[in-house]
Amino acid sequence: MTDPQLILTERVQQALAAAFGTDYADADPLIRPSQFADYQANVAMSLSKRLRRAPREVAQKIADRLSGRAEGAQGDAFPGTVEVSGPGFLNITLSDDWIAEQTAEIMADPRSGVAQTTPPQTIVIDYSAPNAAKEMHVGHLRTTIVGDALARVHEHLGNKVIRQNHLGDWGTPFGMLIEHLLDIGEATAVAQLEAGEGNAYYQAARAKFDSDPEFNQRARTRVVTLQAEEPETMRLWHIFMDATVRYFNKVYSQLGVTLTDDDIAGESMYNHMLARVCDELQERGVAVVSDGALCIFPPGFTGREDQPLPFMIRKSDGGYGYATTDMATIHYRVQDLKVDRILYVIGATQALHMSMLFASARMAGWLPDHVRAEHVQIGSVLGSDGKMFKTRSGESIKLLDLLDEAETRAAAVLAGRDYDDAARAEIGHAVGMGAVKYADLSVSHDSEYVFDFDRMLALTGNTGPYLQYATARIRSIFRKAGMAPATATGPILLGHPAERALALQVLGFGSVVNEVAEGSAPHKLAAYLFETASIFTTFYENCPVLKDDVDPATRASRLALCALTLRVLETGLDLLGVPVPERM
Ligand code: ARG
Repeated sequence: MTDPQLILTERVQQALAAAFGTDYADADPLIRPSQFADYQANVAMSLSKRLRRAPREVAQKIADRLSGRAEGAQGDAFPGTVEVSGPGFLNITLSDDWIAEQTAEIMADPRSGVAQTTPPQTIVIDYSAPNAAKEMHVGHLRTTIVGDALARVHEHLGNKVIRQNHLGDWGTPFGMLIEHLLDIGEATAVAQLEAGEGNAYYQAARAKFDSDPEFNQRARTRVVTLQAEEPETMRLWHIFMDATVRYFNKVYSQLGVTLTDDDIAGESMYNHMLARVCDELQERGVAVVSDGALCIFPPGFTGREDQPLPFMIRKSDGGYGYATTDMATIHYRVQDLKVDRILYVIGATQALHMSMLFASARMAGWLPDHVRAEHVQIGSVLGSDGKMFKTRSGESIKLLDLLDEAETRAAAVLAGRDYDDAARAEIGHAVGMGAVKYADLSVSHDSEYVFDFDRMLALTGNTGPYLQYATARIRSIFRKAGMAPATATGPILLGHPAERALALQVLGFGSVVNEVAEGSAPHKLAAYLFETASIFTTFYENCPVLKDDVDPATRASRLALCALTLRVLETGLDLLGVPVPERM
């Protein structure tokens, strides 16, 4: 553990226990960075009522314990100074030596202070999940990007991550989709689907379904043979799905997302389990027939006039739905995959479905208490008009076109710089994808945001390109110095306040990564990286590194701080899935 804030939290808790008894050992010391010292702890104020003592008196007792002045005090010497100020604040200043020591430790640690989770957990991350019968839209882009960042973070922490792409690849629409494929011919259908024209394809099939009775009848018959997994129907279904997945894969590969075909676990995979799911739940009395449909009524869910809300797992016509598949899925994940935790990275609009699913699964005993199931709610992506993001003509936007546009615009931002065409395309790709991904990741996953190319591509502010540029700038320092960053190892000397601030910041990296994993909150890592880059800028403006009048020891220390900052920024961006171009 290197995070000063966590170390101080532990120390203050020990002091609390020693001064006031073990009842107080769990109190949150409320340690925050401060402008008057390195940190300030506000715990004396929050505890004074409970202790029936004046806050300043409480603060003084803690300070005495911490600094070893109390009678019988023992333990490690406090690595700094503590002062009581104002109504009872504890101002904590760490010693330069201690900070330098911790910094040397994290520099020598190949994991830069990010500890592995022990024991490792098995975690299913359900993300991306576009529907084959419709076009993949920007909402899916966001669940893909956020889910992928969470997968990377958990893997880095040593957890076993099982990515599951819960494709919408089954159900009644597939009857008409397959018949349409026969009508227009396999080759034409495949070409259209591979090109990402899924929407047009769906609309053409739908139009015939609504207007042509003969087609309508064929489509219905096809649903029956599909449900029965009749071989010829399955062959056609595979042709349709394979072409569709090839389009999804183009999007994934352009984005640099880690999903592969092995991660596909679509709705179709659970088809053969659905009848048993319903039977078992009905036999055990978890599900009951209501108006002809088989429903679970999980406690605590009511609709209009306080009527209990049904979670319907079999319709009155005998058909299964989204809820049935999700019950089968959760059972499979818990029983077969033996997960400790499941993250559902899905649109916020599905919040009710998700909470009813979890409640129903708990009721059925399929989701034991020791398994955490969470809906990582994804907020909507809006256009500049504040409505769902669409093209000017009102159609939904084809994702590949959107990604291409990001790259073209990124290359334009880099105009005027002296690169050949190949380098410009490569940097444009990294900057364009970095901008789009970072825009999704830098706001909290459940809030809406406006998709705005100009803002996400800006070279200043909390953007992907700003952070990419920050790493490129540090790398150029090393090019000028004629050395590799890895060879800059210090020792660290902390004379200037900007050096201290930078060292304290990088020491916090590990705990931020943990927080991201714990709370499924990639935006916290984004905020941390942005802050790190800003603190680095202050450092670089105040502390010359390569100037002639900098003495060799100071220069070595500052180069080490540059190298460590670079490592933290690069590792952090990699965990977010944001590519880092070598130069910019
Ligand atoms: N295909 C769904 C959609 O586009 C998302 C599926 C998410 N996963 C799940 N297990 N329900 O909204």
